[in-house]
Amino acid sequence: MDTVVSGIRSTGNLHLGNYFGAVKNFLKMQKENNCFFFIADYHALTTHPHPDDLHGNIKQVLAEYLACGIDPESATVFIQSDVPEVSELYLLLNMNAYVGELERTASFKEKIRKHPDNINAGLLTYPVLMAADIIIHKANKVPVGKDQEQHLEMTRRFARRFNTIYDVDYFPEPDAYNFGNELIKIPGLDGTGKMGKSEGNGIFLADPPEIIRKKVMSAVTDAGPSQPGQEPSEPVKNLFTIMSVVSDPSTVKYFTDKHSSCEIRYGDLKKQLAEDIIKVTDPIRNRIKDILADNQYLARVVREGGEKARASASKTVREVREIIGYRPF
Ligand code: TRP
Repeated sequence: MDTVVSGIRSTGNLHLGNYFGAVKNFLKMQKENNCFFFIADYHALTTHPHPDDLHGNIKQVLAEYLACGIDPESATVFIQSDVPEVSELYLLLNMNAYVGELERTASFKEKIRKHPDNINAGLLTYPVLMAADIIIHKANKVPVGKDQEQHLEMTRRFARRFNTIYDVDYFPEPDAYNFGNELIKIPGLDGTGKMGKSEGNGIFLADPPEIIRKKVMSAVTDAGPSQPGQEPSEPVKNLFTIMSVVSDPSTVKYFTDKHSSCEIRYGDLKKQLAEDIIKVTDPIRNRIKDILADNQYLARVVREGGEKARASASKTVREVREIIGYRPF
């Protein structure tokens, strides 16, 4: 059985792209592996959230993941800052992380370009904290998207370096859990690129039906096919891609055929698409509401998850201290 660790950003609501691209894979993994899923709320501090927002954001993201079906009975679900052992391992790993390699990290370079007013040391050492998150549970698999591959490469390097420096075979080097071809990239509704939080082109799991209808009806299309068998344009293809994950195959075929024969009415396609999206999101949206209203449940989930995570983390930190040479008197 593999040990899987994944950190979840505590900023922003989940959209359809997150759901079909990442969360659904978590649901599959949690059944077959020893999974640790946590809200990365130490990492969240790199962008200086206001204290009034921090807790609410954590709670919202947690509720959304649970509403999607992340099961605290199968996976260890916890809040990063409830496991302070990770900050000790982070400190220890920092001693063997070099400023040069951290400065060369793509995500760091991008951050300093975008936010030159907030180049804090936490941002620089972000990959070290992420490595600590992962190796503290001796994970061997980490589900990551493209944007996190370099961070995982650094995690492997930090684990290997620790083993080399102390001449031990202690930390495993975790592999990326890449869903490769299975990974569905959900496009946005603006005709270009993938669905994203900041792009304003997304449908959120927490969106009520009337908002979803509005968003889908105003999605970008084109003037319609001018000859039979014509390939759909990029924006129209995008709608078909979304349809392929939410609708019945017969519905997809119906509209594909209509497009092929130049009889398609995009208004009809959008109406159908909106209803099929709502069929997927509405039960989740209702569960998000129920879970958010049940603070006792949320408190129990994070307490029990935190205890399990701490048990695993404190064992590692104890052994690491011993390896480094901290000994009792
Ligand atoms: N850096 C990840 C992201 O931005 C979040 C994260 C933090 C993470 N710690 C992790 C992911 C450990 C996987 C494993 O999405």
